[in-house]
Amino acid sequence: MTHPRGALIRNTAPARINHWITGGCFVLLMLSGLSMFHPMLFFLSGLFGGGEWTRAVHPWIGVVLLVSYAGLIVQFWRDNLWNRDDFAWLRAIDRVLVNEEEGVPEVARFNPGQKFVFWAMALLVPILFLTGIVIWDVYFSPYTTIEQQRIAVLVHCMAAAAAIIVWIIHVYAAIWVKGSVRGMTQGYVTPGWAWRHHRKWLRQLAASGSSGPRPSGGGKAPHA
Ligand code: HEM
Repeated sequence: MTHPRGALIRNTAPARINHWITGGCFVLLMLSGLSMFHPMLFFLSGLFGGGEWTRAVHPWIGVVLLVSYAGLIVQFWRDNLWNRDDFAWLRAIDRVLVNEEEGVPEVARFNPGQKFVFWAMALLVPILFLTGIVIWDVYFSPYTTIEQQRIAVLVHCMAAAAAIIVWIIHVYAAIWVKGSVRGMTQGYVTPGWAWRHHRKWLRQLAASGSSGPRPSGGGKAPHA
């Protein structure tokens, strides 16, 4: 796919496909999980062909999410490592939240908020998977006790609630920072977007003469 002249590659096609498989699985898990969580939300099971189908399909989507999120971890962990500058950015969070980013410490590919979402999900997805295995009766009930299943279901629900909150923050921030969603749909951002939100990343790209993580045609290196 070609991008406008000067565009910067933010996410390669494999990374984007991987991301949207993850996002799709998460939404399906949330809807099917909520339908089993409370009778008031049972109507959501209609989306999956009724209660029995929902119960059967939910854990399998969880398996796909685990594998898919592992793919995101492999591709993004390096850019999400915490560094000392991140504390300075956090101290200026009040200015970030009112959209006055001048004077806020420069950030590289991901800001501390994004790093938080990344690591929170890296913790929560495996917790959801492991507790899910314990309550996946069809295959695993002979290997666990009722007491273990009770604890697992409680932890599973708490981790799901936390993951949904993290997901809401993630989607809100993605829409709020105009131009980010295109970086995950079409794969590119403008140099202006990078200058405003990820200036250190822009400088790194300029210094390396590349137009993104792995240039796939289109953009030229900017001159910051
Ligand atoms: C379904 C709704 C979702 C939307 C609209 C969305 C949107 C986005 C956007 C726009 C970006 C690019 C941010 C940037 O380039 O700076 C992004 C990155 C990312 N998203 Fe999502 N996302 C969604 C769901 C998810 C879910 C469910 C997960 C994980 C379970 C997830 C994990 C990530 C990760 C790991 C990144 C890379 C950024 C980082 O590593 O910090 N996303 N998302």
